[in-house]
Amino acid sequence: MELLRTVTSLRALSDQTRAAGRRLALVPTMGALHDGHLALVAAARRRADVVIVSIFVNPTQFGPTEDLASYPRTLDADLAKCRDAGVDAVFAPAASELYPDGAQTTVEVRELAKPLCGASRPHFFAGVATVVTKLLAAARPHLAIFGEKDYQQLQVVRRLARDLLLDVEIVGAPIVREADGLAMSSRNVYLDAPLRGEALALVRALDAAEAAVASGERSAAALLETVRKEIGRAPHADLDYAELRDPETLGVVERVDAPAVLALAVRFPAPRAASGTVRLIDNRVLSPQSPKIGGPR
Ligand code: PAJ
Repeated sequence: MELLRTVTSLRALSDQTRAAGRRLALVPTMGALHDGHLALVAAARRRADVVIVSIFVNPTQFGPTEDLASYPRTLDADLAKCRDAGVDAVFAPAASELYPDGAQTTVEVRELAKPLCGASRPHFFAGVATVVTKLLAAARPHLAIFGEKDYQQLQVVRRLARDLLLDVEIVGAPIVREADGLAMSSRNVYLDAPLRGEALALVRALDAAEAAVASGERSAAALLETVRKEIGRAPHADLDYAELRDPETLGVVERVDAPAVLALAVRFPAPRAASGTVRLIDNRVLSPQSPKIGGPR
């Protein structure tokens, strides 16, 4: 497995792969790799001949009071995981490689980036869109894989790839969860044991809403009330948002007569994070024809 530190070396590998008529996949990450990331690698492996994982803690997507400084950085362990997963190359550049001196260009996706995480983290999606565009421009992959865990991010990336006429296929991959249901996240390391227990409120809230839809509830207001009740059971949970939105446009949905994405963000106090809080997100697409849980299929 190669470790690439420069855009020039990344370009060389991409050119060589394309010249040999082989398919190239890129899996962008910020490192601290877990099985959720490795599932993206496996999805890439199935679709491409050469798989590149990028590891870059992108400063422009963190706000001034967020956890850029304390974000977990575990490069050696990440490289070992990538090697074991059959990754061909890891691209781990210094910030100066991706943001040359005097850089003044950013990529902004407008409407899709406004609600949900965009409302509570106003800088976030411009940072993501800019760095993802740079990574796609530098690696020139045939496809790039993103997790549905970050549902809005996936839609933002799909939109920018279409809008900027990028010749790349954006592939979404399902959420990978711990055995007890908590969505895997690099930020879960901020949770001590009691909070780790409380964090299950997110998945319980999604389960409760899904069960309500299966038993006929269609009103977004009623479903969101169920969600708020579940989150409220966790004493330290501070709900940032719970919303039902159209799965593609992310427009507000009043009734779940067609599939809708239920998206949640919840903050917990976390002394281990420099910011003092950890913000967890999760989501599920609710479909009115979901089979009744435990009922006949
Ligand atoms: P990061 O949080 O490291 O996530 C990298 C990729 O892994 C994203 O596509 C994310 O959706 C996916 N992922 C994370 N946890 C997952 C889980 N439990 N199941 C499935 N997929 C999961 O997202 C970013 O980094 C950054 O914003 C990035 C796109 C790299 C731009 O800087």
